[in-house]
Amino acid sequence: MSSFTLSPFQPATPSEASAELAIRVTDLFHKLQGALPLEAVLRRDEPLARRTTLRVGGPADIFSEPDSEHALITLLELASQLSVPVFVLGRGSNLLIRDGGIRGVVLSLAHTAFSAIEFNGALMQCGAGVRLKAIATEARRAGLTGLEFLEGIPGSLGGALRMNAGAMNAWTFDVVERLRYVTRAGEVQDVPAAEVGAVYRSCPVLRDSIAVGALLRGTPADADGIRERMETYSRKRWDSQPNQPSAGCTFKNPTPTLPAGRLIDELGLKGTRVGDAMVSDVHANFFVNLGHATARDVLGLIEQVRSRAREERGIELETEVEIVGEDLP
Ligand code: EPU
Repeated sequence: MSSFTLSPFQPATPSEASAELAIRVTDLFHKLQGALPLEAVLRRDEPLARRTTLRVGGPADIFSEPDSEHALITLLELASQLSVPVFVLGRGSNLLIRDGGIRGVVLSLAHTAFSAIEFNGALMQCGAGVRLKAIATEARRAGLTGLEFLEGIPGSLGGALRMNAGAMNAWTFDVVERLRYVTRAGEVQDVPAAEVGAVYRSCPVLRDSIAVGALLRGTPADADGIRERMETYSRKRWDSQPNQPSAGCTFKNPTPTLPAGRLIDELGLKGTRVGDAMVSDVHANFFVNLGHATARDVLGLIEQVRSRAREERGIELETEVEIVGEDLP
């Protein structure tokens, strides 16, 4: 989440700061009502739990789905003028939103304007809102290999670019030729992937900018082979990962040879519960929501597991799940 700049006069207390932000948020909402086209989604106090795969967390002050790059830039410029923070929500598959929700604007690129896939030979121009599963399926239909691993990652391209998501020993940036993004100041950049410096589970450029699309490269190949690989990946996933609500892997693997799931399993923590949050008994790096978990439950479970890893193995686990928003007062 972007950190926000304080307005010219410095509030004396945190509650004054939040009251002041609330005024700027209301002001921004009215300005956006006038500035965004009717096709763009714009709402106040939007519940977010159902927009995440873990299904926990409070509301967004303002929720918007811009219907074009132009509308996105307008939104970013106005938010920046009023010093209102902006958070970009993908498909919510790697996200833990605290129970008090997210102050400022939550924007999503789920609008059809950001969901197109266009082919040019072995190249695919994809919008940030396209689901990874759709990219894998369309590539298979076009007889292109290399994108099969995206089949089971439950997210959008924008989120996968931001965290360089991976599965089956491949990373998103393995298949990216060019990245198109908009900076917080509203400038559009279109750069070769090699200039982006993506690493394991991170793309530094996108920490503070918003991916709007990418040019992906596949390799022409036999359609049956592509289908078989996708089926193998899908089977492996169904066998090794839980199907209850979760945010995917909770922690990054501490080293390539020590997967966090194996470590937590070895610590005997499968089935550990805080409220309705539980360490999955299928894969120990997945924390599942048994029905009524709160963010507080999940955060409590994360802390328990981290301290056991620290105390018993001297390992500092780092969360892979992005944790955002505020606690309830
Ligand atoms: N393992 C256990 N016990 C468990 C879980 C795993 O012993 O409870 C062992 C497995 O038997 C295996 C090893 O740990 O020998 C690795 O497990 P797995 O093959 O499931 O891979 P992973 O390293 O845990 C990574 C990604 C996943 C991705 C899978 C499949 C990370 C943190 N996770 O998991 O990504 O789906 O490979 O390719 O890099 C995610 O990013 O949210 C995610 C789920």
